[in-house]
Amino acid sequence: MVVSKLLGAILVMEIIVMSGTRFGAVDGLRMDYYMMSCPFAEIIVKNTVNTALQSDPTLAAALVRMHFHDCFIQGCDASVLVDSTKDNTAEKDSPANLSLRGYEIIDDAKQQLEQQCPGLVSCADILAMAARDAIFFAGGPVYDIPKGRKDGRRSKIEDTFNLPPPFFNTTQLITMFGQHGFTVQEMVALSGAHTLGVAQCSSFKNRLTKFDSTNDVDPSIDSNFAKTLSRTCSRGDKAEQPFDGSRNSFDNDYFNSLIRKAGVLFSDQTLYTTPKTRGIVNSYAMNQAMFFLDFQQAMFKMGLLDVKEGTAGEVRGDCRKIN
Ligand code: HEM
Ligand SMILES: *[C@@H]1O[C@H](CO)[C@@H](O)[C@H](O)[C@H]1NC(C)=O
Ligand SMILES: *[C@@H]1O[C@H](CO)[C@@H](O)[C@H](O)[C@H]1NC(C)=O
Repeated sequence: MVVSKLLGAILVMEIIVMSGTRFGAVDGLRMDYYMMSCPFAEIIVKNTVNTALQSDPTLAAALVRMHFHDCFIQGCDASVLVDSTKDNTAEKDSPANLSLRGYEIIDDAKQQLEQQCPGLVSCADILAMAARDAIFFAGGPVYDIPKGRKDGRRSKIEDTFNLPPPFFNTTQLITMFGQHGFTVQEMVALSGAHTLGVAQCSSFKNRLTKFDSTNDVDPSIDSNFAKTLSRTCSRGDKAEQPFDGSRNSFDNDYFNSLIRKAGVLFSDQTLYTTPKTRGIVNSYAMNQAMFFLDFQQAMFKMGLLDVKEGTAGEVRGDCRKIN
């Protein structure tokens, strides 16, 4: 474990050195962006995240998912954090936000940063750092990310169609992630974020009854696991089903669950059902270090999606309100 983390850290250092050429479009971002202007930014975020997760470890999943939703809609620009107003229904209020949580952690870090270095540290950077720190807290890989993202000025409910729904098959997932520049392998690695957290019954109940014209229950589910899911759903639409046996620990259990046909969402299980991605699932199930390395590289890349720099964005004073 320790060795794989060290190895991961060394490899990521190499990516960082190369990042100027590989991610030319985001030259405005730098690993040491706040070094002079707000040297304690990283520490403040990390301490805030650690304190919050010590009292509620389930929030690690929430932070990781929030960063994903942020980056897939309008780029990583904290648009997911904006509250709706009288004149604008924000992303947050989309049905796709289902159960996003953890906003208070970002607010808490932001308040401390505004006291230390007012107007400097963007909400988008705070969220990116918080997701990164949550992954490490939960036992996942440690890695450094570039900073310097600006916060966006747009957050609209109608933009959230860009998130993948849980009934997508592998072909559809490949297409959607491809549109964001991800390879098939990166898409599978990122799905591995479901090593953390839970889904509500409403996200998978369509697999349990009247699945399609020939099957009542989704044939890709193990029959015992289908019973487990039905038991969960007997407690209502909001009842929670952990994605794998260790909802608060970042590991490769998720991929082992897929091999046992115990994936919770159709979009999880399809990665094993489809021959094109089955080999990748098998590799990650067998080799956690490989999953960690691919995951951290894919997260690094996700954190650069359509990043706003300079005057294309702002540094919000309050993460819930556009300045
Ligand atoms: C591959 C396509 C994906 C689909 C279809 C998908 C869909 C979902 C759904 C439906 C839920 C459960 C929501 C609920 O019922 O409350 C969920 C939870 C979650 N997703 Fe994804 N997701 C995908 C990819 C990702 C990615 C790329 C990440 C992060 C890098 C991610 C992180 C999470 C986490 C951590 C949770 C658990 C949240 C919690 O416990 O609070 N997902 N996802
Ligand atoms: C998510 O959206 C629903 C409406 O679809 C809204 O009622 C709920 O408050 C939103 N959740 C959060 C955490 O913003
Ligand atoms: C995936 O879903 C799309 C849209 O429903 C469908 O056209 C396609 O045939 C499906 N692909 C597979 C391999 O099932």
